Amino acid sequence: MNEQLLKVQVHKRQLQGDGVVVLDLIPVGGTTLPAFEAGAHVDIHIAPDLVRQYSLCSDPADNATYRLGVLKDPASRGGSNGVHEKLLEGTEVQISAPRNLFPLAKGAKRSILIGGGIGITPMIAMAYALQARGEEFELHYCGRSRSRSAFLDELGNAAFAERVFTHFDDEAAGQKLDMDAVLGQAQAGVHVYTCGPSGFMDWVIGEAGTRGYADDHIHREYFQVEVDSSGASFEVVAARSGKTVQVAEGQSIVAALKTVGIKVAMSCEQGACGTCLCDVLEGEPDHRDVFLTDEEKATNEQMLLCCSRAKSAKLVLDI
Ligand code: FES
Repeated sequence: MNEQLLKVQVHKRQLQGDGVVVLDLIPVGGTTLPAFEAGAHVDIHIAPDLVRQYSLCSDPADNATYRLGVLKDPASRGGSNGVHEKLLEGTEVQISAPRNLFPLAKGAKRSILIGGGIGITPMIAMAYALQARGEEFELHYCGRSRSRSAFLDELGNAAFAERVFTHFDDEAAGQKLDMDAVLGQAQAGVHVYTCGPSGFMDWVIGEAGTRGYADDHIHREYFQVEVDSSGASFEVVAARSGKTVQVAEGQSIVAALKTVGIKVAMSCEQGACGTCLCDVLEGEPDHRDVFLTDEEKATNEQMLLCCSRAKSAKLVLDI
């Protein structure tokens, strides 16, 4: 992937809640950053071969600063630890231009934003954008406890503060997220957005589905996926070079290809971003990502090489 990277500097760094670092990034050698839409993310090049994606949570109308919130993950494979340890105030770092895989629908009658934990980040940018558009929305922020949650001051002081509702596991029952009240039954033009831990999102998506919301009115962004890399060994043929490699049990296709000198561009390494998407020329993939839709998976025309495996003994890939 040959893309133009942006050089930015950590202008301000704050620790908020329990283990969340909030970074304000400003351009190096300029005063403005490329415009972004609510829901967009950037790739942060934390170190060579360590690229991670984080949602922008600042006001999209602010073209001088990008804000991110990164939770320190105890199971971090380098990403969140790298951000917490390396991105200190004054540090310069390269990032991609913003990309949006989680856009707001156009012309919605009402938008219901439901964020769990650090999944609140894209929702904050969405709330700024919906407020600026003058559209109807509400933002629900769910977390374990108030003291562990970041961004509460910002949300409490925002122009849309009266549209923000918090729901904490350790507070009174009356403030818990009540899906009957929040989602009710689906109505025309009402869209639901969710981001957070996968179990939380599955619950929100399931509730919306059973209440009659159409799938294209339930918008989601997964940021944390447990990758299951178990499964039998299989063969991969890289059609462009004709190289063949055996993918061992527990090994990813990307790792196997690397052993024969084929490098695959990756970002999330969790089947969530689509960076490692590849055309399948032959064979049957065992899809383990959350990026492709069920319909796309059923065609078996493409697969994600960071996490998916094979149901057939051999895959021929357009790489
Ligand atoms: S690197 Fe993100 S889906 Fe594979």
